[in-house]
Amino acid sequence: MRGLDQDSIAEGFGAGGLSGVVLTGTALPATAQAGYRPMQVLVARDSRAAATTAVELLDWRYSWVRRGLGRLQPGRTYWTDTGQYLDLLWGLPAAPFPPASLDALAGRLLASGGDGPLRTPDPEALAVHLAVQSCRPGRGHEADWERLRVMAGTLDWRAARRIAVESGVHAALDRARRALGGPDRPGPGPIFGGALGPAWTIASGFQRWARPARLRRLLAGAPAYGDLGVRVRLAGIEVIVPPGVFVPTASADVVIDVALRHIEAVERPLLLEIGTGCGAIALGIAARLPQATVVGTDRSGRAVRAASRNAARLGLAVRFERGALLAGMDPSGIGPVDCLIANLPYVPSTRRVALGSVPAATVEGRGADGLGLQRQLIRDARPFLRPGAAVVLQMLPDQWDALANEMVESGYRSVEGIALDGHVIGVARFDGRSRA
Ligand SMILES: C[S@@+](CC[C@H](N)C(=O)[O-])C[C@H]1O[C@@H](n2cnc3c(N)ncnc32)[C@H](O)[C@@H]1O
Repeated sequence: MRGLDQDSIAEGFGAGGLSGVVLTGTALPATAQAGYRPMQVLVARDSRAAATTAVELLDWRYSWVRRGLGRLQPGRTYWTDTGQYLDLLWGLPAAPFPPASLDALAGRLLASGGDGPLRTPDPEALAVHLAVQSCRPGRGHEADWERLRVMAGTLDWRAARRIAVESGVHAALDRARRALGGPDRPGPGPIFGGALGPAWTIASGFQRWARPARLRRLLAGAPAYGDLGVRVRLAGIEVIVPPGVFVPTASADVVIDVALRHIEAVERPLLLEIGTGCGAIALGIAARLPQATVVGTDRSGRAVRAASRNAARLGLAVRFERGALLAGMDPSGIGPVDCLIANLPYVPSTRRVALGSVPAATVEGRGADGLGLQRQLIRDARPFLRPGAAVVLQMLPDQWDALANEMVESGYRSVEGIALDGHVIGVARFDGRSRA
C-alpha cells in the first residue's frame, strides 16, 4: 500500500489515465496559524469516480463521511495516523455557495500546468483561487493567504485580473490585492462580481450568524472533528463512526493483534469486548477469526447502534448489547469467556487532555487515578472468565504498572505490557481462583 504523498497519488492517477492539479502541496511551509496543511488536488468533475477509486487504493486510515451539509465540500478528505492529509476535490470550495459557482475558475486551473498526472497550475490562476479562498469564511485560509503573499511579488497581476473577471470573482482578487498592502488577510467578504455579489452577501451573512456552531462550520464547508461521521480503516475492515461515538485510533489494530495472539491455542474462542464504541475491535476480530464468537457491549446507545450497523454492513455476526460494564449479564447465559477486551475511559481528571469534539464520557476515567472502571471490571469479570482467559486492557503506562500489581491480588497474573505511543496495552491471564 502507498501513503497519501504526492508520488503515490501521481502513480495512482497515472495508472488510471487521470490528471489533476495540486492546489496546495504538503511541501509548502506550514504557518503557525495554519496548523495542518492538507494537500489539495483538484480533478475534473467527470473524473470524480475514477479519481476517488485511485485514492481509495492508497493507505489512508480516516475519511469524513460526506452526508448532509458535508456535501458542501466538493470532494473527500483523507488522512493518516502520521499526519498526511489529502483533500481530493472535484470542484473548488465555495461554501456557503455550491461549488458550481466557481466552475469557471476550476476549469481555468484544470486547463493549466502542462502534462502529467499531477500538475502545478499557472501562478495567475492559482493566485485567483487563493484570493477567493482568503475571502471565504471557515478555517485554514491563513495558509492560502500566506501563499498568495509569497507569490505576490512575481505575479502578472494583469493576467490574474483577466482570469478573475472571466471567472466572475474579481471582487475577491481586488480585495486581496488591496489587503496585501497591510498586515491582515482580507477575511470573509465580497468575492463575486455581477448578480452573484448580493446573493453571496446574504448567504455569507446567514452563515456567520447560523447557530449552533456546528451548523456555522458546516455552512463554511469547514467541519471540525466530531461534526461529521468518520470512515475508519483498521484490521482489513472499514467502519463508520457517527458523531458522538469514539473514533478508533491506531491502537485498535494492536489490540486486535494482541488478543488474537493470546487466544490462538483456543479452537472456537468466545471474546467479550466491553466499551466497544463503534465495534471496530470486535468486528476486526470477527473478520480475522470467523470461528470465534464475539460479543461487544457499551453503555452508550448511540455506540451500540453504530456497532450494529457496522456489523450488518460488513456481514459479520457479532452481537452488540447496551450495558454498563457487565451489569445485567449472566455468566451462564454467555458461556465461559476466553478473552476479555476493554479500552474503557482511563484518562484521570488531573490529566486533562484537549478533547475537541471527542465526547468526554469516552475518555475520562473514573476515580482519582482514572482506573475506577477497570478495577470494577476485573472484579466483576471473574465469574465470566474461563481459567487461563486473557484480559487485554488499554491505559496509560504508569496506570498499567499499578493495575498489574492489583490484578495479582484479584486472581490474575500479569503477562505483558505493550508500550505504544503514550499508552500501553496490558495483558493478564485469569488464574481461575475467584477471590472475593
Ligand atoms: C475510549 S472508547 C473505546 C472504544 C473502542 N473500544 C475503541 O477502542 O475504539 C471507550 C468506550 O467505553 C464506553 N464506556 C464508558 N463507560 C462505560 C461503562 N461503564 N460500561 C461500558 N462502556 C463504557 C464509551 O461509551 C466508549 O464507547
